[in-house]
Order: sequence, then C-alpha cells, then structure tokens
Amino acid sequence: MRRRTTPESFDPAQVRPWNAGLAGLGFGGDYNPEQWPDDVRLEDLELMREAGVNLLSVAIFSWATIEPREGELDWAWLDTTMDRLHGAGIQVALATATASPPPWLTREHPEILPRLADGTVLHQGGRQSYAVTHPVHREYALRMTTRMAERYRDHPALALWHVDNEIGCHVPRDYSAAAADAFRQWLRERYTTVDALNDAWGTAFWSQRYGSFDDVLPPLVAPTYANPTQQLDFDRFSSDALLDYYRDLRDTLRQITPHVPVTTNLMATSHTKGMDYFSWAPELDVVANDHYTAAADPERHVDLAFSADLTRGIAGGDPWILMEHSTSAVNWQPRNRAKLPGELLRNSLQHVARGADSVMFFQWRQSRAGAEKYHSAMVPHAGRDTDLWRDVVGLGDALEALGEVRGSRVRSRAAIVVDWPSWWGSELDSHPTQALRYMDQVQAWYGALWRRGVTTDMVSPGADLDGYDLVVLPTTYLVTDADAANVAAAAQRGATVVVTYFSGIVDEHDHVRLGGYPGAFRDLLGVRTEEFYPLQDGETVHVVGEAVGGAATADLWTEKSHVADDAEVMASYQDGALADRPAVTRRAVGQGHAWYVATRLDREGLDDLAGTLVAEAGVGPEFSAPAGVEVVRRWSDAAPPAGQEPTSWVFVLNHTEESATVGTEAAPVTGTELLTGERVSGTLTVPAGGVRVLRVG
Ligand code: GLA
Repeated sequence: MRRRTTPESFDPAQVRPWNAGLAGLGFGGDYNPEQWPDDVRLEDLELMREAGVNLLSVAIFSWATIEPREGELDWAWLDTTMDRLHGAGIQVALATATASPPPWLTREHPEILPRLADGTVLHQGGRQSYAVTHPVHREYALRMTTRMAERYRDHPALALWHVDNEIGCHVPRDYSAAAADAFRQWLRERYTTVDALNDAWGTAFWSQRYGSFDDVLPPLVAPTYANPTQQLDFDRFSSDALLDYYRDLRDTLRQITPHVPVTTNLMATSHTKGMDYFSWAPELDVVANDHYTAAADPERHVDLAFSADLTRGIAGGDPWILMEHSTSAVNWQPRNRAKLPGELLRNSLQHVARGADSVMFFQWRQSRAGAEKYHSAMVPHAGRDTDLWRDVVGLGDALEALGEVRGSRVRSRAAIVVDWPSWWGSELDSHPTQALRYMDQVQAWYGALWRRGVTTDMVSPGADLDGYDLVVLPTTYLVTDADAANVAAAAQRGATVVVTYFSGIVDEHDHVRLGGYPGAFRDLLGVRTEEFYPLQDGETVHVVGEAVGGAATADLWTEKSHVADDAEVMASYQDGALADRPAVTRRAVGQGHAWYVATRLDREGLDDLAGTLVAEAGVGPEFSAPAGVEVVRRWSDAAPPAGQEPTSWVFVLNHTEESATVGTEAAPVTGTELLTGERVSGTLTVPAGGVRVLRVG
C-alpha cells in the first residue's frame, strides 16, 4: 500500500526531542487564531503569558483559510502567528492543515468524498470529508503538507509536526470506490494468490469463491452476514490505510525537515475501535493522545486512567503528550455539564501521573461561532474573571512546579493484554451472542485492578511479558500461535496468567481452532469446553467458590467445560443449565499459574477474584489508600548513587468528597510535596478532590 518511503538519508538519531525547547512539562492547547480579529489575537499573547502556556497546536483546520481558492495562498496571518508565538517563548506543534479539505476541493473533485457501507456519500460541510485512500485527495494533501514544511522549516517556534488530526475519528471505515481499489491491492499484497485468499476467507461456504482479486469488494451492505474474514481483513486494511495516509504525510515532512519530530493525535480510549494503535506506534516520533471524560459517568476518573495507561502502553512505556482534553464541558455528549471544582486539575495531573509530559486542551479560546462554540476552552466566553480562567492559571503554576517529573516513567508488574484484532473479531455478527462487547471485559478487569490500587500496563499479546507477575487476557478471541506461546511462557516463568471467556477461539484468519475451546489456550489452562451457553438478556447464574469471595452472580456467558487432571476448579455454577460445572479454574504451570474465567462475574465477584489474583501474584499496591484515592508513582530514569533508589514522584489523587490520608507506620510516605512545598514525613493528607505530588529520594 505504501507509495512513498522515508527518505534513505533519514537518520532517526537526528530527530530532536519534541520538548527540546521546553524547560519542563508542556502546557497549552489547540490555537485557532483564524477565528478571531487581531486585537483578540494580541490579547491571547498576554493571557498565554499569564497562564504559563509554552506549547500550542496551530493550523489544524486552516487549509481553507490558507488556500481559500485553489492555488491562492494567504500565509500572512500564519507567519505573524508563528513569529508572535516565538516572541512570547511559545513552541508550536504545527499541523499539516489537512484535517478538512476546503470546499473548492470537494466541489472540483467530489470523487474524494467517503462513503458508508450502504453507499451513502459523506458530503462536505462538517469535517474530515475525504476518502483517505483517494489518490486525488492524497496528492492535494501532500501538496499542502509540502507547502507547510517548506514555509516553516526553519522557523524557531516549530517544535513538532502534528499530522492531520485524529485520523479516522469520523470515518474509520470508508467504502468508496477508492477504498475498494486500495483494499484489493492490500489483499494482493497479503495473499499473493487468490487461492490463498479463498482459503483464508473460507469461501467454499455460501458460493463465495473468488476467481480473481478484481471480484472482491469491501463488506458492503448485503442480504445477510458478510464473510467474517472479509470483515476482519477490511478492519485490518482500514487501520492500515489510515496509517498509510499518516506515513505518507510524515515522510514528506521528513524529507524537508528531518530534524523535526512528527506525530498525530491518537484517540486511545475504550471506544476507539477503528485503529490498531499498537501497529501505529512505531511510526510516531512521540505518542500523542486525546481524551475526554463523560460527564454522565460517575467513574470517569477510572476511564481517564484507562485511557492514559493504554496510551502509555502504546508508547511502550515512554512519556507521551496529552494533546487534547477539555477544561470543562464538551459539546458532543447528550448533556454537556461543566466540570466540578477541582476536576480540571485532577484530570490533568492524573494524566501526568500516568506518564504524560504535556497537558494540552481543545482549545485555547472558546469559539464564538461554529459547531464547537459550546465546547469549553482555556479562555471561556465569560472571559478572564471566571473560576475557569483562574483554574487554568492555577494549572499552569502546578505544571511548572512539577517540571522535574518530565522524562520519568511509570513502573508496573501487572498487565492487561489489549488486542484490536480480538476486538474486531469477537464482535463480528453471526456469533454465539450479539451482546458481547470486548471493551466491557477489558474495562471491567481494568476497573477491578484500579480499585485494588494496582497500576496496570496495557500491552499487546506479542509484547515482552517478562517484567509482569500478573497478566490478564480478557476475551482475547483471536491469537496467533506465537502470541499464545508468548502468554504460556509468562506462566512458565512464574506469572499468574488469567484468560477469560471467548479467548483463543480462532487463528488469525478467524478459523476456529478445533478440538474444544478455548483452542489456543486449552493446554495452558487445562480446560476443554464443548459448547457455549450464552445467557439471555437479564438472565443470571450463581457462582460459588472462595476465589470469588464465596458467592457471586454472573451473566452474559457460560460454557460447558471439563478440567484436566492437573487443573483445579476454583468456582463453579450453582444453578442454571450448567450447575456444578467449572466457572473459574486454575492450573499450576512451571513457576506460575494459569487461570480461566469462563463467565462474566458481577462487580463484587470480579473484585474478589482480582483480590485473589493480586495476592497470588504479589502485585498489591505499595501504599494503602482509602477507596477512591489513586496513588501512582513515576520513577526517574537517571541512575541513582550506588545503593540508593532512583528519585520518584508519588501522585496522590483524591477522587472522593472526603479528605484522605495516605501512609502508615509500616509503609510511611516521606518526601517533599511539590504543589505546596511542604515537607511530609510518615503520612500525607490530601483534601477532598485534591492532588498532592511527593518527591521521594
Ligand atoms: C477532537 C478534535 C478537536 C475537537 C475536540 C472536541 O478531539 O480533535 O478538533 O473537535 O474533539 O472535543
């Protein structure tokens, strides 16, 4: 699929760090001066100074402002913006300005518009109305990228390239003619021969055999279920196609500015199914992420932690950029409530605690017009005399005080395996139940570990699992032999490995592994399942066993399993069609253990089981903290003096409405608190809704 490649002369070692021009952590947001007259832009600079802003994303949606008619270019406003920001000591993550094609382009070339699976055209008038694979769009996007790079290549404010924006956000799957062509090309590269494609897709079924790659289509709306492997490959292709677009623009930038790092803002969240970000990560010079909390979710801080940990996992543990979040309300949820007092600081520092080295927002100044005018910003409609502005200035002060954490890393001995192909595959139609949602399981396990105070890494199934004592695989439906062996090796080496229902079922082509479920993990777990018994809506069963706290309720999924002689039943069904059969099992493997959880436990049952597993694996938290109080530690990368531990920073985030104390006689907390400057010895008290950051060592 790749048309261009990184220039041969490109040397990754010459790419400077994205934060080379910053003294500490990054702070800022999307800056859209083209929406404002000059007096407002001048006021922006004063306010940015007041808040301590040092990094801004500029020109994300500026294509139509820069080029209002084809070939007619207006750079003056952007030149002035870049110069002024530099004068104010602010670094720029400069966008390629390609996030939305200008109206003249889609009028002249309507063929670049994307389509849904039923053929509906997604017209110009919103944003992101382009088919990511269309060669005409690509040519125009590359031309714009080249112009931006050539114009600002030597500008002293240029710190980082920001390619397009949230690639795949609105159109993760495009079914246009251009996409169909690119899909066929991708399939040719993957399978070489059409016979290989026929084998992989199992086309002996339903008269689907292909005589030529030319006959293949994307999975368009059809009379009944489309071929599952076709759907799965279209998911893989679409993720690759979006990445290919990023790579093409990045390579253009690299040719002109080989020293400037390049990234794009990901949306690593529990609902971004379209892009396999583990495969994207190697192409980014630094990982950047956008995350928004859901006002209606009382546990939105857990969802935030999940996103931050997933981002860190995608970044391979390296520090990352929080490229966007909101100072307060958004405009795209059913009810968009402003954030509560303290929430802005707590959200921001929660990201920092989990590895962000920059805190940025959408956007700097709240728009007067357009679809996002009710979305909060750093400068609200009501202006400077507001709690929100004072909170923004306070955040700037806090980030300045925390500058020394930059570059430090989170350590974890527990991992959850996250896998996009399993997400795609497990939710395909024509399955045992349509109610299974992959991310529900991942989030349930994440939440259970969060409530136990365990800091968890999120890794891909092929990741190096050596450092982990607890490895959880929620609904890892699709695994290769190599990844299954990787997981088994972790148990052999001593880890507690936990596999949950509908895992290991198929190979990479979505072909069932025969001989009994859970196929690829059958031997590791010592479990053989004959048939699935998914439960009806509202139907529950009871599960009994010490491992789940005595008794628990389960729903969604049960299965008829047998355990091998060397495996133990840790909990079984008390009632229902499978009464007395195993629900939770455990097998000793090498130095470790492999557990199977064959059903969806309720929250209490899962919490109890997580407690059992955390204890077995020995990955419990270092500091005891009350429920709802989050403790996360970042460690310095610098080698400490002989015999000493490296410096670390302990973030304590109190998500409750009561003040909380962390630290006991047995496990005291001692160090300097960076936000108040206080010396702490033994215990640390954090006010309701507050944050404290302790430097230790
Ligand atoms: C995304 C986009 C921004 C903006 C925000 C609003 O993150 O990248 O341009 O639309 O959403 O929340």
